[in-house]
Amino acid sequence: MILLDKENNVFTLHTQNTTYQMKADQHSVLVHTYYGPRVAGGDLSYLVRYADRACAPNPSEAGLDRTYSLNTIPQEYSTCGVGDFRLPSIELELPCGSRSADLRYAGCQLRRGKYALEGLPAFRGSEEEAETLVLLLEDAAAQVRVELYYGVFEPLDLITRAVRVVNFGEGPIRLRQCASLCLDFLRSDLDLITFNGCHLMERSPDRAPLRSGVQGVDSIRGASSHQHNPFVVLCDHDAKEDYGLCYGALLLYSGNFQISAEGSQYDNTRLVMGINRYQFCWTLEPGQSFTAPEGALVCSPSGLGQMSRQYHRAIREHLIQDPYEGGRRPVLINNWEATYFDFDADKLVDFAKAAAPLGVELLVMDDGWFGKRDDDNSGLGDWTVNERKLPGGLKALVPRIQELGMSFGIWIEPEMVSEDSQLYREHPDWAFRVPSRTPARGRNQLVLDFSRPEVRQHVYGQIKAVLSSADIAYVKWDMNRSLSDVWSAALPPNRQGEVYHRYVLGVYEMLDQLRRDFPHMLIEGCAGGGGRFDAGMLYYTPQIWCSDNTDAIDRLRIQYGTSFCYPVSAMGAHVSAVPNEANGRTTPIEARGTVAMSGTFGYELDPNKTTQEEKEVIKQQVAFFKEHYHLIQRGGYYRLTDPFANGPYTAWEQVSSDRREALISLVATSLQAAPPFQTLRLKGLDPQLTYQVNGGDSYPGDVLMNAGYPLPLFHGDYQSLQLYLSAI
Ligand code: DGJ
Repeated sequence: MILLDKENNVFTLHTQNTTYQMKADQHSVLVHTYYGPRVAGGDLSYLVRYADRACAPNPSEAGLDRTYSLNTIPQEYSTCGVGDFRLPSIELELPCGSRSADLRYAGCQLRRGKYALEGLPAFRGSEEEAETLVLLLEDAAAQVRVELYYGVFEPLDLITRAVRVVNFGEGPIRLRQCASLCLDFLRSDLDLITFNGCHLMERSPDRAPLRSGVQGVDSIRGASSHQHNPFVVLCDHDAKEDYGLCYGALLLYSGNFQISAEGSQYDNTRLVMGINRYQFCWTLEPGQSFTAPEGALVCSPSGLGQMSRQYHRAIREHLIQDPYEGGRRPVLINNWEATYFDFDADKLVDFAKAAAPLGVELLVMDDGWFGKRDDDNSGLGDWTVNERKLPGGLKALVPRIQELGMSFGIWIEPEMVSEDSQLYREHPDWAFRVPSRTPARGRNQLVLDFSRPEVRQHVYGQIKAVLSSADIAYVKWDMNRSLSDVWSAALPPNRQGEVYHRYVLGVYEMLDQLRRDFPHMLIEGCAGGGGRFDAGMLYYTPQIWCSDNTDAIDRLRIQYGTSFCYPVSAMGAHVSAVPNEANGRTTPIEARGTVAMSGTFGYELDPNKTTQEEKEVIKQQVAFFKEHYHLIQRGGYYRLTDPFANGPYTAWEQVSSDRREALISLVATSLQAAPPFQTLRLKGLDPQLTYQVNGGDSYPGDVLMNAGYPLPLFHGDYQSLQLYLSAI
C-alpha cells in the first residue's frame, strides 16, 4: 500500500511486514525517514535529528541555520559536489565541465500495477499485484530531471527501485554515475553479507560487521562474475535464519556493478548499488533519457530465512518467464562432462537410448556441434552444424532422439568468437580490441562487440536458422570469458564509456528476441558455470547453470550460498560421474541425486557407462523428483544447517504452502566412529499437524520442530537421506 500525504510531502510504502518512508522537507530535499518492520506510519521525520556539526556545509536556502546539512541528513538519492561527502548516487558532468548534482523534489505520481523498464529486466506485477510510485526530482542548474520509481509488492515485502534521468536542457550532459538505489540508515551496528568466490566455487557467504568507511563488492569483468554476486544483505549483528532484522538488496543487472556500503560518522550507514562507475560515462543529448537497472529490496524483520523465501517467491512469480509455467520442466541429460567435444550423432542417439528408459526427458547437446570445433580453440562465431559429426544436420538428428521419447536441446555461446573462424576472418573488427593493442584472449577466444546491432543481427540470424531447422526444446546460452579490451569501433572516443552497458543491453535484446521467437523453448543461462548468475539473466533464462563444479559436497556450499537470494528452480544442477572431474572426489550416486534434486535436476554422465544398479537408482531418483516436483521447486526453502560450519551433515527442507507436505534432504559430510546421536530440528511445519515420514512412522509437527527428528547413525562416506513428510 502506498500512502501519499501531499500536504506534508510524506510518502509511505507499506508491505505486509515492513514500512518504507520518505519526505520532501522544507528545502525540497527528499529525506529518507524510515525503513524497517511495519509501523502505523504518520510523519516519521522526527526520527531525523539536526545539530550544528563541524565540516558539514549548509545549503544556501538554510540561511544561517547551521544544523541543516546534506552531509548529515539521510538522503533518498544522494547527490554530489554540493555538500554531502558520503557516497554519491549520481554524478552529472555539466557542459561547463563541473561534476556535480543537486536534486530537489518536484512532484509525484501514483499508479496501480508495476512499472516496466524498456530494454531492461524488471519484476512484473499486474494492477492487483503491485503499485508504482514515481517521485520527481530536479536539478534546476543542470536542467536534469531524475525520476525515482518504486514498485511495491505487499505480500512479498518487496520494494523495487529504478531511476530514469532526463536531460531537459539545451546542451549535452554526461552521466558519470547513475545508481539504481541509495539507502540511508540512521544506524551502523549492522553486518554486511556478500556472496563471493571463483570459477568452481561461486557465491560463498562472507559476513562481517560494517566498518567505518566504504566497503562492498563489484565487478569490472563485463559480467556479474563468479567472484562477487550483485546481491548483499545488511542485518542485525545477531540476525540468524529465524530472527533478526535483515535487508536484502538485489541488482537486476548482468554487467559491471558496484554495491558499496559506507559506515559514516555519527554512526550512520549508506548503501549505494548500481552500474559500476568504472569507465562509465553516458552522454545525454537534449531530450534524451537514461534508465538505470532495477534494484530490489526485501526487508525481513524475522531473519535471513524469511528474506530468502520472499526473494524466491518474488523471482519465481514475478521475474522469471517460464515456458513451463504451472507445469514441470523436463529432466535432462547433458553430454558435456561425458564426452566434451568428442561426440557424433550416433553417440548422442546412444545416450538417448540409455537415458529415455530411466525417465530422462531431454537430451542436451553441449559445445562442439558447430563450425570447426573439436576443442576450445576454434569455431566460435560459425553457428552452422558440423555435418561431419552430425550428418544431415539437426533435421536428421532431432527426430531420431524424439523417436526415443525425448526432446532435444542445444548449447550456444553467441557473444564470443574464435580467431580461427570464418566470422573472425571476415569481420575482425567485430571483436573488442583497443586500436593499436593486441587483445587478450580468454579460453583462447575474443568477445564480440554486442553493443553493435549489425554484429548481434548477424549472430542471431545464424542461430535462429539453426534453431528453426528442427524442433528444439531447450537452449543453453553460455559465456566463457570476462570482457577485456573493451572498445567499440562503432562509437567515437568520447562515447567509449557507454560500451560496457551497451554490451549488456545488446545481450538482453538478443535474449528477448530469442524468447519471443521461440516462446516454448526453455533457455538456461551459463557463464563458465555460475559466472553470470544474477537476477538480470533470470528474467530471460528461467534457470542458470550454477557452477562447473558438479561435486555433490562442494555443491552443498555453492547451492547454500546461492539460496540466500535465488530459488531452487533457478539453480542448474546435475548428477555427474565419479570421481568428480573438478576435485577427484567419489560420492555415492544417492548423495549426488539428493543434491542435484535441490536444483533444476538432470544428469551429466554417460548413461551407457552406468551399472545396472546405478540405473535402478537413477530411475527411482527421476521418478521421485517428478512426483515431488512442485514441492521441491516451489516449496518454502529452509536452510537447516550451514555447510561452512563443518558440522557432521548439511540439511535443508522444502515445505508446501499449505504446510501439509515437506521434504528434508541431508548429506553427511564428515564421518567418525562411535558418533553421538543427532536430532534434526525441522522448520516451517504446522505444529498442530502430525506428519508421516516416508510412508512409515508418524510424528507431531511441534515435536519435529522443537525436539527434532532422530537421525540414524551413518556408516560410510557421504551417506544421504531424503525424508518426505505428509500430514495425516
Ligand atoms: C562452460 C559450461 O559451464 C559447461 O557446462 C560447458 O557448457 C562448457 N562451457 C562448454 O564449453
